[in-house]
Amino acid sequence: MSGNSCSDKETKTCCCHGGSASEGQDRRSFCLSVLGAGMGAAALAVPTYAGARMALFPLQQEGLSGKEYQLTTYDALDETPRQFVVLDNVCDAWTTSPNQTIGVVYLCKKTNEDGSPGVAAFQTVCPHAGCRVKVGPTKNPTTGKTEVLFYCPCHGDTFYLNGERVQPENSKSARSLDALEARVDESGKVFVKYQNFQLGTAEKKPV
Ligand code: FES
Repeated sequence: MSGNSCSDKETKTCCCHGGSASEGQDRRSFCLSVLGAGMGAAALAVPTYAGARMALFPLQQEGLSGKEYQLTTYDALDETPRQFVVLDNVCDAWTTSPNQTIGVVYLCKKTNEDGSPGVAAFQTVCPHAGCRVKVGPTKNPTTGKTEVLFYCPCHGDTFYLNGERVQPENSKSARSLDALEARVDESGKVFVKYQNFQLGTAEKKPV
């Protein structure tokens, strides 16, 4: 098909090779357009990435990680750990979403060293690679007997109810379950300082 339409020029010439003066102008315009579009996309990418990061990792917002939450009452707890959801208002760059799940913790009653009643709190995230740890009757790999333990469904690590690994020498996890700070106030309300920790390390590093 003959003619001098835009589509003809675009399919026959490239902005990196020679041609006539008018073609050169067209090529410069085209190249500037491409450059402008690229810079615009780059400018948009920064806030888009920031928004996506905040949506995916809400705890990285200032003020949530390490914050204390009232989750239940002492009387509502048992000796066996149970899961409690941690809710908070999550803000991204533009909106606030109320009562979003930012984490889950295990809570149970315990006896403090001085004999007073206390609360044990643990992250539900396995320190090895981040799977959600379960609790229930499990075969103790050391004794062969069934008892209530924490266990990880991903790679089979087992933990006692105080968070310690049953077999440190054979565990994928390099540390115990991550204990969280918890307290009971004078009215019996249970407060937990929620925190995430770096995975795959022997050291317990808050993130
Ligand atoms: S993620 Fe729990 S043992 Fe690997």
